[in-house]
Formats: sequence, C-alpha cells, structure tokens
Amino acid sequence: MTELIDAAQAVLRANDRGGYTVPTDRLYPFQWNWDSAFVALGWATFDEDRAWREIERLLEGQWDDGMVPHIVFHVPSDDYFPGPDVWGTKHRPATSGVTQPPVLATVVRRLFDATGAAERAAALYPKLLAWHRWWAKARDPQGTGLVAILHPWESGMDNSPAWDLALARVPMSGVTPIRRRDTRHIGADMRPQDDEYRRYIALVDLFRTLRWEPEAMWAHTPFKVADVGINAMLHRAETDLLALAGGFGQPGDEDEIALRLERRRQAMPGLWNEAAGLFEPFDLIAQAPVPVATSAGFLPLFAGLVDTRQARRMAAEIERWAEAVRYLVPSLSPRDPRFDAKRYWRGPVWAIVNRMIAEGLADYGQDALATRIHGHTQALVRRGGFAEYFDPTTGEGLGGERFSWTAATALSWAAP
Ligand code: DGY
Repeated sequence: MTELIDAAQAVLRANDRGGYTVPTDRLYPFQWNWDSAFVALGWATFDEDRAWREIERLLEGQWDDGMVPHIVFHVPSDDYFPGPDVWGTKHRPATSGVTQPPVLATVVRRLFDATGAAERAAALYPKLLAWHRWWAKARDPQGTGLVAILHPWESGMDNSPAWDLALARVPMSGVTPIRRRDTRHIGADMRPQDDEYRRYIALVDLFRTLRWEPEAMWAHTPFKVADVGINAMLHRAETDLLALAGGFGQPGDEDEIALRLERRRQAMPGLWNEAAGLFEPFDLIAQAPVPVATSAGFLPLFAGLVDTRQARRMAAEIERWAEAVRYLVPSLSPRDPRFDAKRYWRGPVWAIVNRMIAEGLADYGQDALATRIHGHTQALVRRGGFAEYFDPTTGEGLGGERFSWTAATALSWAAP
C-alpha cells in the first residue's frame, strides 16, 4: 500500500509543471479542466497548498463571461493538436474555446471541508458561481433545465457513441487540416478516428469564425446535445455550490442556485429510459433521444437525481454489464455492437467515472456494488498501472501512462 501511495505521489510530482499538473507527459502537455479538478483531490492527500494552487491556476484561464475552458495553454508545445493557433481565442493565457464537465465546485467543497481554508474557498466561490451562471445562459438559453454541449470535447468523453448520430451531421469540411499528434504518442487503435477528428476541427473552425460568441454558437452549431453526464455533474456541482454559498455567497445566491437545481430536477426524468435501465442523452437538433447505453447514463446517481427504484434498476443493469466483462464499469454497454475494449470512450473503464458511479450507488444504499466497483478499480491499477483507461475484458492499461487523474484517484478515493 505504501508503495502504491509513493508511486501515485511520484506521478503527480513528475507531471507538475509549476502549480498545475499535465494529465500526462507529451500526449497532453497543458492544463485540462476536469483532469485538474480530480487531480486536486489527489494533491490534497499530501500537499494541501498544492491542491488549491491547481484550481487557482486553472481559473487563470477563465473568460470574462464566466466560461472555464477545457484547456489552458500555459506554455507552448508542439506535442499536441489543436494548439492555440487553431483555437484563435483572445484570452491570455491562451485557452481553448469550449468547456468541460463542471466538477470544480464539487472538488472545491471537498477541499474546503478537508482543509478549512476559508480564504482560498472564498476567493474561488464567485468564479465558480460565474461559471455555473455561464452554463445556464450559454448552454441552456431557453431555460429548459438541461444544458447542452456544442462540441464532443465538452463532454470529456470525446468519441463516445453517444455523439455518433449528432457528429455525423457535422461536415468534414473545416478549413484547418488535421495534424494528429496523439497517435504519435500512443496506438491509433486507442484513439478516436481521423473522420471524428475532421469533424471536431470543423466545429472549432466554425466557432472561431463566430468569434466564440455563445449566442452565435448556439444559433449556428450543427451539434447540440443535452448530455446526461454533463447535466448530472453540473447538478452535483450546483448542490455543492449551494453549500458553499451558505458561507461565502451574497444575498440571493442561494435562491438563484436552488432555482437552477429545481429546473433540472424537473427536466431530468425526460432522459430516463426504463427499458434500458439508465439515462440517455437528447439530441436538440434532431429533437430525439439518443438510444445509447454508456456509463454516463449512470451518473445521475452521483447527482442525487434519481429515485430509489431507478437506483435499483441501474444497479441491476450494471450487474448485467458485469456478466459480459471482467472489470466494471465499461464506458459503453458490452452488448452494443460498437463496443471496442481499447478505443478511448467506446468501451474502456475510466477510474474517475467509476468513482462517481460508485459514490452515487453508495448514496442510494447500493453498497455491495459500490464496493465491487471500487475493488475493480484498485485491481485495474495493480494490473495496468496508473494508465489513462483500462480494457474491461483483460485489465490492460491503455492510453497515456503515468496518468495524473488515475494516480490522484488511487490516492484520494477511499473504499465506500
Ligand atoms: C484530446 O485531445 O484527446 C482531449 O480529450 C480533447 O480535449
């Protein structure tokens, strides 16, 4: 155990670039949004100051309108595509122009509860509130209660089959040619396909010509999906922001946050699929549910957004998935014909998703399954090291090696 802790701490130290942590060397040479949030929880187990720094440095990238970008390009690197030249955003430090799953408020609440660092939490609170306001305004302008993503990268689950139909609508005619750097660092069989990249970049090209203005992006994007994972993580984060507002907020903040929570609570049942035993995304352009069973479909458990009957139904569905793979929780149902045990978000297991699902299951009294998922995650790390993700059929470590959020999760996720 001590050896594992030492090794996990060594990963974070090696990936430290001065107050921020790269997800892994070379493959991801900048600061990523939700990576850093989970990584801060790892730092907090042995260096509280460094944990707070991680969040503070990420928020150096926050835009005036409240958006927290998915990448902050603190220092140049030719190891990654698309770099700041392709994004063409105005912010300094340079950033990308889309966001990522909003888990920061959840992490800040946990850091504050663990450290009692009121001054640091107080300084971060208004920035978190601004980001949550941005989500509501920029990604749910009609006030439906469900925010939408405008780019698969915003989901954090880039090549999930959840986006296949919506992404097929994006023409591959972006002006920027794709220059894959990721497949120089790791096998192409573990990464998204070139055609997906052409569409990712075509969306970036479109948004850049729209000057990254949220109203114009909302009006003109061919890709607009109310993602289950994002809404679940945002709901959980709003709950945590509400708790922080009690200590650090202005009059009116709590009512404002409670209103957003109530709207989402009312809208979420619309994404439930009883037969599938999980939640599914909704495609706002097609005005249709996306029939897909991904691990994100279980994340409403983490948000307290389900009733106990749904929680039992989801637990039974996860048990059914377990009959087809050795390690839980694969990112796609192993019964989906698109299941690919090695390809990024189309099958592999991710430690951070396991953590959120298991914490959610435990909240609903599903302790045995939560403990099993925790045990599988530990076994995967023992078998595959601190890999970016893992093959659910063999346990092989995949993607980037010495990966920060996997090490951080090993450090900070205690058995349920
Ligand atoms: C990547 O480049 O793989 C990231 O997931 C996109 O941010």
